[in-house]
Amino acid sequence: EENHRESLMIVTAYAAKFFHESLLDTEEGQNIGLSYFKERGFSNDIIKKFELGYSPDQWEAFTGEALKNGYQQQFLEESGLSVKRDNGTLYDRYRGRVMFPIHSFTGRVIAFGGRTLKSDKNVPKYVNSPESEIYHKSNVLYGLYFAKKAIREEDNCFLVEGYADVLSVFQAGIENVVASSGTSLTVEQIRLIGRFTKNITILYDGDAAGIKASLRGLDMILEEGLNVKVVLFPDGHDPDSYVRSVGTAGFKKHIEDNKKDFILYKTDLLLKDAGNDPIKKAEVIREIVESVAKIPDSIKASVFIKECSYLLKIDERALLSELNKMRMAKA
Ligand code: CTP
Ligand code: MN
Ligand code: MN
Ligand code: MN
Ligand code: MN
Repeated sequence: EENHRESLMIVTAYAAKFFHESLLDTEEGQNIGLSYFKERGFSNDIIKKFELGYSPDQWEAFTGEALKNGYQQQFLEESGLSVKRDNGTLYDRYRGRVMFPIHSFTGRVIAFGGRTLKSDKNVPKYVNSPESEIYHKSNVLYGLYFAKKAIREEDNCFLVEGYADVLSVFQAGIENVVASSGTSLTVEQIRLIGRFTKNITILYDGDAAGIKASLRGLDMILEEGLNVKVVLFPDGHDPDSYVRSVGTAGFKKHIEDNKKDFILYKTDLLLKDAGNDPIKKAEVIREIVESVAKIPDSIKASVFIKECSYLLKIDERALLSELNKMRMAKA
């Protein structure tokens, strides 16, 4: 079904152009969308490179223009750009939002995220494209097309949560950055990164949700045989807000000073809650050995057991026997 996929990608490319031109060349786009991006500190270069856009605040601005230009109703609907009314006519899914096109890792636009400019709690902050024949959310990383060269060169991939995080970090000159875009990290996304590097550094938001997601992601990355480090940001900050507040040098320094391998990260995090309670401490040890048991490379695993033994002041042989038990149980 190459023709079908191609037709969908032709529509999404057209839409990206439409939204980008609305942002740059219309009065509404400039006054509302462009000034929003400028206030957030995004440069013209970044706006052009990532093809950021604006969807006019009308019901059929995009759909009407697309139909007039011969794009078929079927593909407008399947791509999720237009939504069908009960009477069969179409209206725009994205209205009055700033637009983030999502590129495949070969650089074609396959989907969109649209951010509201309202602070109304009842309006969803982001509206994203639905799944389609060209967009399988779990297989896509936002920014990978632009980041892949730097990921290879740096032999490391920074993983952030959101669109704005990718843009701000990239603009700060740190180009090896991609986002999982809200969905919790998937195995497919990890394998995609694995084509370019075996090293992932998680830079999630410094809130409870970010920490929880980082722990989940960490175990999945280990299971895929990749190396993982984690850096937390002060509560209330995400990489976007943090890099804007401290600049490139400050951001890099924060990463260097705070990056932890997964053992240290988990130990610090979990021991904080355990205090001196020996039962809780035993539970922490068990959880950490559980993570180590996920590492396919047994030499690497034994190195981490050594570190764990040192950090937790537990006999290495006890940890190894626990590790072996878990491995046997899995096999
Ligand atoms: N997200 C989403 N739908 C939502 C909220 C979040 O798809 N209702 C995804 C988006 O990809 C978003 C990411 O999850 O970029 C992280 O969410 P969040 O931290 O809430 O948003 P930010 O990216 O920080 O957005 P902003 O800085 O624009 O407020
Ligand atoms: Mn098909
Ligand atoms: Mn968040
Ligand atoms: Mn943010
Ligand atoms: Mn955020």
